[in-house]
Amino acid sequence: MEIRPFMNVWAFLAFTALLFLISRVFYHLFLNPLRKVPGPFFARFTNLWELCTIHRSNFNEKCVELHKKYGPVVRLAPNRYSINTIDSVKTIYALRNGFPKSEWYDAFGHPSARNLLNVRNEKDHTTRKRLLASLYSMSTAVHYEEQVNRINKILTRKFREYANGRQRVTMTKVLQYYAFDVIAQITMDVNFGMIDAEKDTLGLLETIEQANDYPMYIGLYSHLHPFLFSLGDFFGAPNPFATLTKIVDRQIKIYKTKYADLKQHSDNSCQSFLSKLFSLHETGQVDRQAISDSCGMNIIAGSDTTSVTMGACLFYLYHTPRALKQLREELDTSKAQGLISDPITFAEAQKLPYLQALLQETLRMHPAVGQILARSVPNTGAEMEGYHFPPGTEVGVNAWALHRNPALFPDPDVFQPERWLEEGTGSTKKADKLLAFGGGTRTCIGRHISLLEINKVVPQIVQNFELVFEDSNSSLNSRASWFVVPKYECILQERSDEV
Ligand code: HEM
Repeated sequence: MEIRPFMNVWAFLAFTALLFLISRVFYHLFLNPLRKVPGPFFARFTNLWELCTIHRSNFNEKCVELHKKYGPVVRLAPNRYSINTIDSVKTIYALRNGFPKSEWYDAFGHPSARNLLNVRNEKDHTTRKRLLASLYSMSTAVHYEEQVNRINKILTRKFREYANGRQRVTMTKVLQYYAFDVIAQITMDVNFGMIDAEKDTLGLLETIEQANDYPMYIGLYSHLHPFLFSLGDFFGAPNPFATLTKIVDRQIKIYKTKYADLKQHSDNSCQSFLSKLFSLHETGQVDRQAISDSCGMNIIAGSDTTSVTMGACLFYLYHTPRALKQLREELDTSKAQGLISDPITFAEAQKLPYLQALLQETLRMHPAVGQILARSVPNTGAEMEGYHFPPGTEVGVNAWALHRNPALFPDPDVFQPERWLEEGTGSTKKADKLLAFGGGTRTCIGRHISLLEINKVVPQIVQNFELVFEDSNSSLNSRASWFVVPKYECILQERSDEV
């Protein structure tokens, strides 16, 4: 007798849950204004379809596949849509009145503090960006050239050691160490020493991987982020953001003394990012927190992106003998004509059409970010590809799906640097159909820095070394999370011209 009221409560809860489920299914099948958008069946009702795909680490490929199957607009989750046309890029990422970032980005940082990547309020973003923009401009990037030369020298020495030992190396790992060493050198004038030690000297790589994986899952349930973050803190779970801040703050403290010393001796030889930040701090333009945040952001956003792009570039190049031959001819001829120095400068590299075509084709074939760049449809709603998207809908373009759209790039799965060369003149075409660095006001602020590194290191490797793949059909073997990280091994040899 006493059990009955208790059972009634359970029956009531079960009935309510069932009613909720039925009404949800009914809504998405018959009332949702975007019900006609095609996509995987379960994505119509739940975020779990997208979550499981992310967990399988091949979201980028799945996105390409879905667009091939369903067309320009695809549903990923009940309120999330992927679009892969240039018109949608122009609408969503417009410089004026582009759509703001969606809540999906909240999990890219501490719940109570925003950073340049995850700040959603456009005014707030503009203020932050304006303060820092000069540190990342094309004209400033060349100030960091000396720091890149320093790390490139170490990389070349290491490659020689590997070549002498005919050692098989996990190239993508070496490039990851390179990218960390070089961004630390540029940002804080410190050598993390990863290339030399052949290991992650600071335990940073895993930290950053966690920081990038977490939002892929929690972004879909971003309202849970503050709660999960506090829960993690309470149980002492490793906090990637805190680990990174600790490392960065230690370096800033060390550099402060060095900076004071350099200033005292009016020594302007060191042009690190941090010295420029200190100058801004002295004139009251940035506060102490902004110094720490922007150094941390450089490390987190500027290392894997660059190593992923370099890894893909070398892989495709050494698997395409025609392209390797043509690039070497361009470099050798330019050297013989005194048009490039040793080491090559950023300015010189940018004048080499084939090299630029190669880099653009790499960014097309393997954009570092593998997710849609999610934005929230504003209050006015939006018309795209024949659909009306109501306010608050999450939409985005995934560079992978855009770059593999055959209407934009014929034979999109074929690596073909020549597609970027103008017929007749041989100069490099504009890369305006690429989304590898994002779009609109939120375009990658660090792109000139990464291009500085890649433009200098790729010619240096190509002029001196062979990458020999034991299996000529080997694949990039990528793991897709926020970044699509390749993993491959090869044997390094000194250059021979029998390509
Ligand atoms: C090949 C290398 C790189 C690629 C492919 C790349 C890609 C991207 C993309 C796609 C975005 C836009 C993300 C979005 O809309 O959600 C972005 C933003 C950003 N990137 Fe990069 N990135 C690279 C290198 C770098 C470097 C070297 C740095 C720092 C030194 C950097 C710092 C940032 C920052 C701070 C943002 C946020 C910008 C904002 O919202 O205003 N990135 N990057």
